[in-house]
Amino acid sequence: MFDRIAPVYDAMNRTMTAGLDRRWRRLTAEAVVRPGDVVLDACCGTGDLAIACVRAGGRVTGLDFSERMLERARRKAPELDWVSGDLLSLPFADASFDAATVGFGVRNVDDLQRSLRELRRVLRDGGQVAILEITRPRGLLAPFYRFWFDGVVPLLGKLLPGGAAYSYLPASVRRFPGPDDLAELIAAAGFADVRYRTFAGGIVALHTAKAELPGSDPRGQTP
Ligand SMILES: C[S@@+](CC[C@H](N)C(=O)[O-])C[C@H]1O[C@@H](n2cnc3c(N)ncnc32)[C@H](O)[C@@H]1O
Repeated sequence: MFDRIAPVYDAMNRTMTAGLDRRWRRLTAEAVVRPGDVVLDACCGTGDLAIACVRAGGRVTGLDFSERMLERARRKAPELDWVSGDLLSLPFADASFDAATVGFGVRNVDDLQRSLRELRRVLRDGGQVAILEITRPRGLLAPFYRFWFDGVVPLLGKLLPGGAAYSYLPASVRRFPGPDDLAELIAAAGFADVRYRTFAGGIVALHTAKAELPGSDPRGQTP
């Protein structure tokens, strides 16, 4: 599916978010990447979040299992390390990275808990993770969001060549845990200091956390 949507992916991102996606990726990178950090951007797609991590000062590896997505990422930034691989079984040794980011990726994996544990495994103790994901707003924005996301986005996807797969998007967001539940899953995977903030009235959530130090007690760390 991701190979099929690769040609329209960037255009759909800009249209679906009215261009706000660039700012969300920048804030995601800045939340966890410090100058000189060795960074993994998993589910990197066409590479925009990985490139934001470079701008934040990181030395970045982008990983994805879609070759078509990676082709586009390589074209945008040939100097970066782009690796073909699966988030559920990362091809890196334990504690290889200072920071890890995932943008609009964990919603799509078959086993969310395993993907979080893999991210923890490849981070050094105290390393930081940032997870940017679509979520469902409550309150005033909810009806507009339903109209846009459940109606307009799948329709746009049908009109664009290769974009039919966008009809899967609303269902994948409905299935995905809300921000509080995701925070608990992140803590259960071996992270401490789990926090989240939302953007654009609650349409998107950014979770950050620190890879727990051995022997530390994550209880009491509330989002
Ligand atoms: C919605 S795109 C997000 C791309 C990019 N991170 C961004 O911010 O735009 C999701 C990406 O996750 C990748 N993906 C999904 N499951 C994966 C897995 N298990 N391992 C590696 N990549 C995966 C897809 O190939 C796709 O490129």
